[in-house]
Amino acid sequence: MASLRIPVPSASLLSPPPPRSPHLVHHCRPSSSSSRARTPLMAMASSSPPQLQELKQGIADFYDQSSGLWEQIWGDHMHHGFYDSDADDVSLSLTNHRSAQIRMIEESLRFASLLHPDSKIPKRIVDVGCGIGGSSRYLAQKFGAQCCGITLSPIQAQRANALADSQGLSDQVSFQVADALQQPFPDDEFDLVWSMESGEHMPDKPKFVKELARVAAPGATIIIVTWCHRDLNPSEDSLKPWEKELLQKICKAYFLPAWCSAADYVGLLHSLSLQVT
Ligand SMILES: C[S@@+](CC[C@H](N)C(=O)[O-])C[C@H]1O[C@@H](n2cnc3c(N)ncnc32)[C@H](O)[C@@H]1O
Repeated sequence: MASLRIPVPSASLLSPPPPRSPHLVHHCRPSSSSSRARTPLMAMASSSPPQLQELKQGIADFYDQSSGLWEQIWGDHMHHGFYDSDADDVSLSLTNHRSAQIRMIEESLRFASLLHPDSKIPKRIVDVGCGIGGSSRYLAQKFGAQCCGITLSPIQAQRANALADSQGLSDQVSFQVADALQQPFPDDEFDLVWSMESGEHMPDKPKFVKELARVAAPGATIIIVTWCHRDLNPSEDSLKPWEKELLQKICKAYFLPAWCSAADYVGLLHSLSLQVT
């Protein structure tokens, strides 16, 4: 259980949807406070099983139908790029977007201190919400690691396995259809738990985070890159009506449940006594 594995160093990196670039770097000490956890975290957790099933099916169908097109446009990676606003060479070309996607992976690793020469190289990785496996293949090659990816989309799992096969990586990476909220892995299994732009689909954020922590081995790193709404001010109970309306449109388009803030995630991670960066 998570409480027996304290401390599990973890990195929380959170990115908003386009066109803004990823932001949010937290430096927190472990704490038992979860006071920032607000209603949206449980937005659909109390929904009926048919509603949850409908969301899952909607996500699976969405990616079954759209992954081919995403692949044509974005290649292996179905996530946003990391753009350095100070760099001179930022352009909107697809080529640059693809290198910006790789930069997003590298920046996430750097942020979680995994690129530091003294850091332990991860050898067992889980890619939670793996898409067509771009991160898994990249990380498996970079670290010489074994990587398991899970997705709700059978078409994605199939394509991810086919790409691994064609790249000679099938003995290192494998993909299957499974739910991030009920992962088919034992406790303490992985030394890197990776979730790149999948958390926004999760209807029960506490369960999502708990499940990430459950499969993380003692001393493992958990990296979460996800869409979040802004942190609320102390005087606010919720977002403004126009903000909610805007988010609702994005939810409809991408099969997303209610959003939460980065501070909400930090609260959840602290409530499990994880170290948050
Ligand atoms: C935007 S794609 C990101 C894919 C991949 N991480 C990448 O960066 O290329 C979101 C992924 O999350 C997965 N996903 C959403 N909800 C999930 C759940 N409950 N369990 C497992 N995967 C889920 C989708 O199937 C999809 O593969």
